[in-house]
Amino acid sequence: MIYTEEDFYRISEEWLRAGWDTKYVYGFTWLGRPIIQLPEDMIRVQEVIYRVKPDIIIETGIAHGGSLIFYASLLRLINNGYVIGIDVDIREHNFQAIRNHEINAGEDIIMIEGSSIDEKVIAVVDEYITSNPRVMVILDSCHKKDHVLAELRAYSKFVSVGSYIVACDGIAKDMAGAPRTTEDWSWDNPQEAVKEFLAENDNFVMENPPIPFNEGEIKKPVTYWKNGYIRRLK
Ligand SMILES: C[S@@+](CC[C@H](N)C(=O)[O-])C[C@H]1O[C@@H](n2cnc3c(N)ncnc32)[C@H](O)[C@@H]1O
Repeated sequence: MIYTEEDFYRISEEWLRAGWDTKYVYGFTWLGRPIIQLPEDMIRVQEVIYRVKPDIIIETGIAHGGSLIFYASLLRLINNGYVIGIDVDIREHNFQAIRNHEINAGEDIIMIEGSSIDEKVIAVVDEYITSNPRVMVILDSCHKKDHVLAELRAYSKFVSVGSYIVACDGIAKDMAGAPRTTEDWSWDNPQEAVKEFLAENDNFVMENPPIPFNEGEIKKPVTYWKNGYIRRLK
């Protein structure tokens, strides 16, 4: 038997579901910090970051800090940009581990504690966005539709033309009914927030970033960030 591209997509959907049930994504670190991401999503966002070359990456949802350290380390390699992380609950041990991490030698990791949709938090973020930097935003906090929609509305203004705002974990839609979910995830998810945001804002378009190198047959990503990349057009 020879497997086809379609077989790959079909098996990947099964693999994603098995990975969800077994908490596969809870098994990785980046430079010592746990990062709760699918490795393919990390490689793909790295491709985008290298192309866009943001001066600032804003991420909502820090958790253990692995993703914040990941973005900070990429920016360190590319252009000495910096990251701003926001979380409603930054545990002291995580805060210290991120603050004291080798990659933060230049103190280029900014952490803000509070809800990402709190106006006071957004005002603090705003203070860091001076002198027209290139900004990319990654939304990985609460994945409820209303919350992601409020984040899209609040943080899209920071995104530079040509750059992206990413609504992570659209996979929630497909996982409704799986362990650690409820049936309402079928509509209460990031993909629905993206749909509503795009219907009200024509400065943005949903776009899976182009794959810069591909000598194989697989054209669609195996991803948790389904329909999550939104590019600013104007
Ligand atoms: C999926 S985890 C983030 C994972 C992290 N980005 C990574 O890749 O390792 C979600 C985080 O969002 C935070 N969170 C939940 N609700 C939030 C809110 N309203 N505002 C900001 N952060 C929130 C949680 O405290 C949790 O740390």
